[in-house]
Amino acid sequence: MSQAATLRRPGAENSFAMEVSSGLGLEQKAISSTWLYDQRGSELFEEITELAEYYPTRSELALFRDHLPAFGAAFGRHASVIEIGAGSSRKTRLLLQALRSPYAYFPIDISADFLFEAVGRLQEEFPQVRCTPVVADFTDAAALAAVARRLSTVGPALGFFPGSTLGNFEPHAAQRLLGQLAHALGDKGALVIGIDSTADPDVLLPAYDDARGVTAAFNLNLLARINRELGGTFRLDTFAHEARFDAMHSRIEMHLVSRIAQRVLVLGKTYFFQAGETIHTENSHKFRRTHFLEMARAAGWISQEVWSHHTSGFEVHVLGRGAAIPKVLSQGD
Ligand code: AVJ
Repeated sequence: MSQAATLRRPGAENSFAMEVSSGLGLEQKAISSTWLYDQRGSELFEEITELAEYYPTRSELALFRDHLPAFGAAFGRHASVIEIGAGSSRKTRLLLQALRSPYAYFPIDISADFLFEAVGRLQEEFPQVRCTPVVADFTDAAALAAVARRLSTVGPALGFFPGSTLGNFEPHAAQRLLGQLAHALGDKGALVIGIDSTADPDVLLPAYDDARGVTAAFNLNLLARINRELGGTFRLDTFAHEARFDAMHSRIEMHLVSRIAQRVLVLGKTYFFQAGETIHTENSHKFRRTHFLEMARAAGWISQEVWSHHTSGFEVHVLGRGAAIPKVLSQGD
């Protein structure tokens, strides 16, 4: 991997400023969860994945261990893997080990430093795989198209979208993204995607508000980032982390609650907070299987397999573009 091999989409820096200034001007203040992942945020998220309360990562890793080997052995040789939001190299490693002579690896992530670190490690482990980090917002259709143009035709394209990150999108945006991925991966493409369908608030709330306060630090880090990058004057001790379950929208929300009435400066502009007023910083939708499959179908995908965790509501879906009869496999099958 070399810096020269990196694809970089311009403009990603200014959009943070634009989103923060428009988001803080809303009636319900809101900033997209995309911006939680600077270097420190990515590190804190890695820490979250190790927490006892945070079941998604453990569940998904168990499903990958059980099912990726058979999947990879049956999938075409010389695959080009496109990872949507390159988080944990642990998961990618399992996929690259399972595939037969994978050809190329294109991780797409908005957090450059974290991306280079993760890809550097993988490149050492898989010297024969052509690794090209792509610094971009993966919802940017132009970025996906740029990767699609560079895909080799020596083997099939495989999208890899673990972690249930699709849940960060509203259903309409999730469906649109699935459609963009279908388009970018092409007629012979496939997608391995993690989806969380957990609906029990007693499981969800501790997972997003852990006892050690790692999720709180992850959420509050957004304010530190605004202070550092956008000249913000947020005092972190005047805000509190809150996780809320919205049953109607079937999602967990993260908020930053202002403990006091106050004013804060960002990029020279003043924003007012009442005591108890919040900034909405994340939605994590928990899609039921039928709902997810409906969105996938509408986006041009056909369900090929569902790997379903035996205790948590976590699932991994294998989607393809050709006709297939969906198989439901449980953990341990
Ligand atoms: C990485 C987006 C899937 O929504 O579960 C974890 C992020 N936020 N704890 C999730 C997250 C709070 C995570 N995703």
